[in-house]
Amino acid sequence: MTALLAPALTANWDQDRAWTHDAYVDQGGYDALRKAVKLDPDAIVEMVKDSGLRGRGGAGFPTGMKWGLLAPLGDKPRYLVVNADESEPGACKDIPLMMASPHTLVEGVIISCYAIRARWAFVYVRGEVLHVVRRLQRAVAEAYAESYLGTDVLGTGYELDLIVHAGAGAYICGEETALLDSLEGRRGQPRLRPPFPAAEGLYASPTVVNNVCTIATVPSIIRGGVEQFRSRGTEKARGTVIYSLSGHVKRPGQYEAALGTTMRQLLELAGGVREGHRLKFWTPGGSSTPMFTADHLDVPLDYDAVAAAGSQFGTGSPMVFDETVCVVRCVLRWMEFYKHESCGKCTPCREGTYWLTQILQRLENGDGSEEDLDTVLDLCDNLAGRSLCALADFATGPVISSIKHFRDEYIAHQTNGGCPFVPAASTLFRKP
Ligand SMILES: Cc1cc2nc3c(=O)[nH]c(=O)nc-3n(C[C@H](O)[C@H](O)[C@H](O)COP(=O)(O)O)c2cc1C
Ligand code: SF4
Repeated sequence: MTALLAPALTANWDQDRAWTHDAYVDQGGYDALRKAVKLDPDAIVEMVKDSGLRGRGGAGFPTGMKWGLLAPLGDKPRYLVVNADESEPGACKDIPLMMASPHTLVEGVIISCYAIRARWAFVYVRGEVLHVVRRLQRAVAEAYAESYLGTDVLGTGYELDLIVHAGAGAYICGEETALLDSLEGRRGQPRLRPPFPAAEGLYASPTVVNNVCTIATVPSIIRGGVEQFRSRGTEKARGTVIYSLSGHVKRPGQYEAALGTTMRQLLELAGGVREGHRLKFWTPGGSSTPMFTADHLDVPLDYDAVAAAGSQFGTGSPMVFDETVCVVRCVLRWMEFYKHESCGKCTPCREGTYWLTQILQRLENGDGSEEDLDTVLDLCDNLAGRSLCALADFATGPVISSIKHFRDEYIAHQTNGGCPFVPAASTLFRKP
């Protein structure tokens, strides 16, 4: 089974003090940068396009194409902004990467900036992970000391500064335009589009926003070549990803494997569902992606196959739940998260997540009715696709899919007068 593992991004994680510059260089670190600065920047953009790399932040947008959409060079500088806000429940790949090998990201940033001719780069890190901020800051200081950053990158005359910015712990600041507003010092709320960041992003200048793992993948493409990168994954989803498995598995953690690996294979890597229990439901990419059941274990985990089966690949972070979990309570908890994190800028999301929480709570308590399920689905219909950003869609996916797969369980709460699985706990939430 370990043959399934394909470490590229994670290849050096087991080295002693892998986060230091010296350990990274011992493993061939910064060779890709030395190779890249001898190439024409446009040639690197073409390599990334040819590699088929797609964004690892959730939507799977082709990275080379995104870089190619930047407004032509003019008076305004270009920026690269790395989205390291990783706050989706279940998602846990960017933070481990920045902890284990921050130089993989720093090298990726420098090569990517050189390719798109950016003068400044920012890494916007989720505020709560202070240990990651410190580790990144140290890696950046080492990179300056080695002249990988600064006024004369590796003696080429190319100038680049990299700023590590700590956010304040808001999920919405992972949405790229809210992130840009936050980085500019404003309250983090999504912007109306157009203009898109490629035309007017940070400080109204052409900006590329990419996920940590997207940018950290770039050195491996330059080092190993396009063909080696394309040799893994599926036709429309090339390369490897860090699958971050959590929940009721024997060995939760980060498993790097090719795109298109199935959940059945990942479960075997993780030792299966915990002893004496069976799989009840799972989500392919964090809490925002519609849930699957044991019937979906053989769906290849890549953007298109997962979408065709009715969910989304998202962050590639499957969450596994066994039969001890009440699906209604689980969905309620997620909805409380989305309600709390809704930025309130648009009415359907601000009001809808509030009302969904209220009704789900009633259903969980056993005080609801079958009619409530229709109201919930109607509310979801008025949120998804009718709000300013995808947070509203994220909030509805788990609700709709849970009613699709577990309608009986919702009904059982009403006939039982509370949760049929964990009745003692459910009474805690009942009104006197
Ligand atoms: C509510 C919300 C939260 C998001 N959080 C993140 C995040 O933490 N990290 C991330 O890379 N993308 C996040 N995204 C997606 C970004 O808007 C953007 O698509 C992504 O950073 C682009 O990078 P990529 O092309 O490399 O995937 C989020 C989107 C939404 C709507
Ligand atoms: S959908 Fe929600 S999170 Fe997004 S802008 Fe509207 S209120 Fe804010």
